[in-house]
Amino acid sequence: MDELLAMVTRRLLRSQLTARDAALLVSVGLGRSLGDIELARLLGKTVEVREAERVLSLADLRARREPLQHLAGAAPFLELDLAVGPGVFVPRPETEVLVERVTEELGATPAGHIADLGSGSGAIAITLARRAAGREVFAFESSPYTWPWLRRNINALAPEVVPRFGDWRASIDRIDGEFAALVSNPPYVPAREIPRDPEVRLFDPEAALYSGSDGLDEIRRIAEVASERLVPGGFVAVEHTEDQGGSVRQLFGDAGLVGSFTIQDLAERDRHTFARRPD
Ligand SMILES: C[S@@+](CC[C@H](N)C(=O)[O-])C[C@H]1O[C@@H](n2cnc3c(N)ncnc32)[C@H](O)[C@@H]1O
Repeated sequence: MDELLAMVTRRLLRSQLTARDAALLVSVGLGRSLGDIELARLLGKTVEVREAERVLSLADLRARREPLQHLAGAAPFLELDLAVGPGVFVPRPETEVLVERVTEELGATPAGHIADLGSGSGAIAITLARRAAGREVFAFESSPYTWPWLRRNINALAPEVVPRFGDWRASIDRIDGEFAALVSNPPYVPAREIPRDPEVRLFDPEAALYSGSDGLDEIRRIAEVASERLVPGGFVAVEHTEDQGGSVRQLFGDAGLVGSFTIQDLAERDRHTFARRPD
């Protein structure tokens, strides 16, 4: 184990990754916990040749900065384990903060559907469906590469979620009834701000990242629809960059929404803005 870990560490350090990335890769490759790996290392245990070969071929992919979650085929998100791979945005811990606050706000919100606009792996829609029994949850996704991952996760984890393929703006008009909540982790990266991390730049789908020159095109559309389709007292909640909170509150105010506020992620950055339709 010691030798395998050392080989993987050397390989990943050359790709600007860390010793911890190497330990995580070995853990995924062997299907064992980090604690198990450390114990096996301390006890001087060996690894079977076939297992070592598998880990080393995964290390080659990781060295090209393929996300660990793609190699594992899964990403944790709150109480879920979501299937992920090429073609789908890997759900992030900051979005867990968004969903926790949305769950709280739903408690004080009139009856109505929930929409997840740009659902990706289904992280938001599936968690909310399992937490907010009695509300119909719609998951909108326009990417044909992402769609199979969304369907797979919905079928496995929350078959009651209603998936809709295509631009959410057109699909939502075909749904009757009012919405209690429009929730979205939309694309919000300004077109010229190419992300530095290769895992994001090379492997997250472009449709999941960019949204016009200031990154706010998608949120502008969400604000407009929120003012039309939310039930009075219903709310909209979106993720955005740490610099966009003020602009998003302004957009929501201009659309006639009230009480807007921005909350921070675990790194204390302004990342999620909420507003309600007046009663
Ligand atoms: C940043 S990802 C978020 C995925 C997921 N909600 C999450 O938080 O992990 C944005 C997703 O929205 C999808 N998307 C972008 N524009 C869309 C549109 N107009 N209609 C439907 N889906 C869209 C992208 O394909 C991508 O899967």
